[in-house]
Amino acid sequence: MIDVQTYVKQSFKDQLEQISDGELRKKVIDVCVEALQLGNNGKGWTDMDFPFTLLIPNLKVSYKEHVRIVTDLAIQSAKILMNNGVPINLDVLIASAILHDVGKPIEYAKIPDGTVGKSDSGNRLRHPVTGAGLALKHEMPYEIVQNIYQHSWEGERGPGRTVEGEILHRCDFLHYGPLKISMSK
Ligand SMILES: [Fe+2]
Repeated sequence: MIDVQTYVKQSFKDQLEQISDGELRKKVIDVCVEALQLGNNGKGWTDMDFPFTLLIPNLKVSYKEHVRIVTDLAIQSAKILMNNGVPINLDVLIASAILHDVGKPIEYAKIPDGTVGKSDSGNRLRHPVTGAGLALKHEMPYEIVQNIYQHSWEGERGPGRTVEGEILHRCDFLHYGPLKISMSK
């Protein structure tokens, strides 16, 4: 079996390659690896195939797929916006997108019935706060920590989102919203 770091690098290869700053890319990988090690109530995850949300019954879309899709949506959206005069830091956007749900491996755990549910941590802390905390521990730039913390409804309050954080928020819900509607039909 491959080690967790190699697994993370392979899973997010297409997205990681688009981060131009090598040091930032390495930190992104380190944060992903530690989240998988800390997750599942401290027992760790050996893959990212667990569902990305518990809010859509019978969901087949994994955490890994969701992160890849949201990051790709964010990159494509940013390119269109940049071509139309909106200044965007692509490194910040891509790092934030790969890490936006990095608290989810910590928020979730395998539960006795064999499915995935909330972990002990997840019963008390939502993934934006655990993800932001882990990113802080790895000395991620504050704007990336902010984007992780504010990617969901936490971002509706406080100082407001960054440009990259706003794109990320929209792309996260661009994946979640239509998927949820299509699964309820
Ligand atoms: Fe997400």
